[in-house]
Amino acid sequence: MAGSNPLGHGRIAKADSAAIAEAVERLRAGDIVAIPTETVYGLAADASNAEAVANIYRTKGRPDFNPLIVHVPDHAAAEQLAQFDERAAMLAFHFWPGPLTLVLPLQPGAPVAKAVTAGLPTIALRCPAHPVMQAVLKQSGLFLAAPSANRSGGISPTRAEHVARSFGDAMPLVLDAGSCSAGLESTIVAVRENGWQLLRPGPVTLAEISELLGEPPLPVTEAKIEAPGQLVSHYAPSKPVRLNAALPAPGEWHIGFGDTTGDDNLSPEGDLAEAAARLFDALHTADASDRVSIAIAPIPDEGIGVAINDRLRRAAA
Ligand code: TXA
Ligand code: MG
Repeated sequence: MAGSNPLGHGRIAKADSAAIAEAVERLRAGDIVAIPTETVYGLAADASNAEAVANIYRTKGRPDFNPLIVHVPDHAAAEQLAQFDERAAMLAFHFWPGPLTLVLPLQPGAPVAKAVTAGLPTIALRCPAHPVMQAVLKQSGLFLAAPSANRSGGISPTRAEHVARSFGDAMPLVLDAGSCSAGLESTIVAVRENGWQLLRPGPVTLAEISELLGEPPLPVTEAKIEAPGQLVSHYAPSKPVRLNAALPAPGEWHIGFGDTTGDDNLSPEGDLAEAAARLFDALHTADASDRVSIAIAPIPDEGIGVAINDRLRRAAA
């Protein structure tokens, strides 16, 4: 199945034990499978298989200088791939399994294809909490490289239908477990010799990490894009996006929040976690609507609202 059209048998399959077993078999054969996590759906392949990893880049249309996150079943397994100092171990202990990715020094001889790290001396690792991803990791015994399961630059998928829509004919097997509970990609933290950096805001907040490590983050120099997934325009719908819109202009699909009603509302109660979980689905809906552009209500820039606003700025860029 690692042949010329490994995605040829794509379909959405309810993530029951038979579908999980099929996914495991396909992954072992070098195929790509879309798997739900608590953040977004990932496009997964065996991280040690160079051909399978190349297939992820090709399928996503992703630039090959943009490294992938490797998913591990637990901290012990992660130690085969990266070097954990005391701070890294503390972060893993507190936030794994969960929506936190750690960028750490690559373990010499780690069984991952070169393309996974795009030649960097570091590797991004995440131990996801979602039971389906956990089952696939444990049953396959593989380390899974998995970017978000959308075409590069498009809106991230939080439902199986989003994955199918993004890839069309080139759709892989998609394990369907409904909506992702967090709904935004994992927080990415790089642990450096002299401190730590927040490379991507996400469900685990800056305040939580600062409190645990007992120090604020080092600044990130934007000029040196070490997390190139953080390219300015990312998560972009096909239509223009206007931010901080209390009211819609003619022709705009208005995504509301709290009392700002809108055509759709991320959270009528003004709950930021609910808004995060619903954000990408709302952008997919807005993109598919008959309006020519999209307007979004102001979102408070606190807690997970920081990650929501980060994604919105990139969607609007
Ligand atoms: O929630 C998530 O993290 C999802 C699910 C599927 O796990 N995955 C995800 O992957 O968002 P992706 O490929 O869309 O984003 C990976 C990010 C990119 O910004 C990439 O540049 C960064 O991780 N990254 C990967 N390896 C890195 C490294 N060694 N140093 C710095 N950044 C790295
Ligand atoms: Mg992505």
